[in-house]
Amino acid sequence: MTTKTEAAIVQEDIKKLADDLKDHIHQFEGSSFLITGAGGFLGNYMVLLLKYLNDNVLEKPAKGIFLDNFATGYEREVVEDENLQFVQHSVIEPFETDIPIDYVLHMAGIASPLYYTKFPIETMDVTTIGSRNMLELATKHKVKSFLFTSSSEVYGDPAPEFVPTPETYNGNVSITGPRAVYDESKRFAEILCVSFFRVHQLPVKIVRYFNVFGPGIRPNDYRVLPNFIERAIRNEPLEVHGDGLNTRSYCYINDGIEATFKVLFSDMNGEAVNIGNPALEISVKGLAEKVAEVYDGEVAINYIPPPHAVYADSDPKRRCPDITKIKEAIGWEPKYSLEEGLARTIAWYQSVMKD
Ligand SMILES: NC(=O)c1ccc[n+]([C@@H]2O[C@H](COP(=O)([O-])OP(=O)(O)OC[C@H]3O[C@@H](n4cnc5c(N)ncnc54)[C@H](O)[C@@H]3O)[C@@H](O)[C@H]2O)c1
Repeated sequence: MTTKTEAAIVQEDIKKLADDLKDHIHQFEGSSFLITGAGGFLGNYMVLLLKYLNDNVLEKPAKGIFLDNFATGYEREVVEDENLQFVQHSVIEPFETDIPIDYVLHMAGIASPLYYTKFPIETMDVTTIGSRNMLELATKHKVKSFLFTSSSEVYGDPAPEFVPTPETYNGNVSITGPRAVYDESKRFAEILCVSFFRVHQLPVKIVRYFNVFGPGIRPNDYRVLPNFIERAIRNEPLEVHGDGLNTRSYCYINDGIEATFKVLFSDMNGEAVNIGNPALEISVKGLAEKVAEVYDGEVAINYIPPPHAVYADSDPKRRCPDITKIKEAIGWEPKYSLEEGLARTIAWYQSVMKD
């Protein structure tokens, strides 16, 4: 079976990422990176990027310490060598190491509604206690930069006049609703990070992702896009819950990871910044039609009642980032179209599902 890492499409993405980040090579050179949630969808691309840079670009290799407890189901597929080391560890417990750390990318989290509904307390613990533990560790190691991965979910269901949503919007979040375990813990972790910046001058960055997708995103976790792609490949009808008019803005993984490293290496300390692609806002219905169009084969679309509270009334009506801030601060702009991102993701699914 082709593993998710071996797939040619992933290798191509990683090479392209290394190229797009070439102005930052001096920051990778000989630096050490602690990445939590490194076994996840986004974490895996970061690990592969470090491996690629070590093997092909850097004179002095980067070091990586990768923490994951493999809580949310990715089968363990670990990339390791003498410089890159995986440690099976839950960030809910403190982590100690003598290895110097230059950069922390705190990605661990329980991000899929399917899992955070099943494990609500763990979901809050990883983002609150886990973030506290990583912030303490980063302070002790006097890191050059600490990056926390927050979410567009901190905005809840924005009022129409706040879409596209800027970072200054304070959110419309249900305090105890079905999504609150995720949304409220991300909100808490943001102010925890900002407090470490204010009190300890820890150079903290916060990114708010808007629906990053691409090769490696796990099927069967109730995120709508992987579900559509998997069903298309299996010749099953795509299921749109309700009227399918709610929107999301999709951002291809390479755009998301490039932006993340650029923010990590920037001086955007103590503040949050949106990462997403406003040009790719599309309704769920429109997305089903787009998957059907990009997929090379017959695809039917069915409309069914929402099976889950998280997807019923609490589902935000529009999700679209205002990305003026990141554009002005570091000059980042997304490059991938929805068609290209979908074609690459479908090709990846086909390569790993065919065996
Ligand atoms: N992908 C997106 O569109 C998106 C959007 C908004 C926010 N985010 C955030 O970005 C981060 C990465 O997202 P992803 O899509 O790669 O998610 P993912 O679920 O694929 O990866 C998260 C990883 O964290 C690990 N993890 C969970 N609990 C842990 C614990 N206690 N200790 C150590 N590891 C633990 C999981 O095993 C998993 O490998 C998450 O914090 C997520 O909330 C992602």
